[in-house]
Amino acid sequence: MANLFESQLLGGTVPLKNRIVMPPMTRTRTSEGELPTDGDIPNGMMATYYGQRAGAGLIISEVNDVDQSSHGYARIPGIHSEAQMRGWRLVTDEVHRRGGTMFMQLWHVGRLAHSSILPHGQAPVGVTAERAEGSEVFAHGPDGRLRFMPVETPRPLSTDEVSAMVDTFAKAAANARKVGFDGVELHAANGYLIEQFMNSVLNTRTDRYGGSMDNRTRFLMDIVDAVVAEFGPGRVGVRLSPFGKYGSMPADPLVEDTFLYVVEQLGRRGVAYIHLLYELLPEGNMETGVFKPRYLDHALLAKARALFPGAFIWCGGFNDRARAQDALDTGLVDLIAFGRPYIANPDLVERLKNGWPLAVADRSAYYTRNGEVGYTDFPTYRSVTLDAAAS
Ligand SMILES: Cc1cc2nc3c(=O)[nH]c(=O)nc-3n(C[C@H](O)[C@H](O)[C@H](O)COP(=O)(O)O)c2cc1C
Repeated sequence: MANLFESQLLGGTVPLKNRIVMPPMTRTRTSEGELPTDGDIPNGMMATYYGQRAGAGLIISEVNDVDQSSHGYARIPGIHSEAQMRGWRLVTDEVHRRGGTMFMQLWHVGRLAHSSILPHGQAPVGVTAERAEGSEVFAHGPDGRLRFMPVETPRPLSTDEVSAMVDTFAKAAANARKVGFDGVELHAANGYLIEQFMNSVLNTRTDRYGGSMDNRTRFLMDIVDAVVAEFGPGRVGVRLSPFGKYGSMPADPLVEDTFLYVVEQLGRRGVAYIHLLYELLPEGNMETGVFKPRYLDHALLAKARALFPGAFIWCGGFNDRARAQDALDTGLVDLIAFGRPYIANPDLVERLKNGWPLAVADRSAYYTRNGEVGYTDFPTYRSVTLDAAAS
């Protein structure tokens, strides 16, 4: 069985120095662009933050808008403008300088959006006109202040718009490659646009993107093909959350069949890894939502493994070495992602290796405008112990 600290050649082409992944985590530390078309832009502070965590085998960036219409939450970066590309170049340079490997996560939020932060106050777009009743996004309230707001009713994308969106993802991936990312991860989880298409209850379309299994998964597969063509095989990952209810996703009686079909198809398309995560409880929003410790059934995962030649990443609730190693020892997964532990432990790999205690981040600093506080100011364990010994 794999050891947590052992290297791996991801997708047959990307060398990872260990099996520890920093999963995507939105931290809202972007800067405002000068022009509205710039979007929210990455900056030097973000380069420091990611560089501090370059000990991970793989860093997956916080999520990025593929275009302006995918901006479902304020202060989320993107990769569609020159300014954003310049900002991300600072980050990849710093991560590579410190010996790390980094993929960019790409999304389109679809119906999980609000007109107050979309260009020209346009309505969100979605797979259908069904609103995500009960879901909220970080947007402007009636007084112009940012707060969590109920999402609005989406306008269904036309067939041509869906095809054009595939090109938008390809362009975003090309931009990510140009600024030095080692690969991209498609966010096909948590009720965002790609998952909206895959859900057989929500997707009631009658065009070639709705109805049959082939049709419901066509949007994801077309994007995968286009993005793999940009990056080459072995450099594209896909995040999935089957059974997840976040984003007001309806329970889908076909979820298991869809999951196994998608896994098999992704394998045929040269996808490097599938990233599986905890179920996010539907209540609340990004700030108050709770991650529910529910794993995919081992028997189902074993079936998926037999269908997919690439790697599986398991994410959710890992906060010590023993549990992570136990998960690897099941033989069902290849890499373990530590989300919240990475917030307060930039030197997580060293801490796990040496059995040093983990620091715990205060949740209030997850998504704030407080700059470095609760972001880049967590010390390494070594610096704390050495400092203490020296004083
Ligand atoms: C502050 C924060 C921001 C997150 N942002 C994203 C994101 O941008 N994209 C995504 O796919 N998941 C996001 N997640 C989910 C994490 O990637 C991960 O699945 C979750 O934290 C559970 O793993 P953990 O128990 O190791 O923290 C976020 C989680 C947290 C705590």
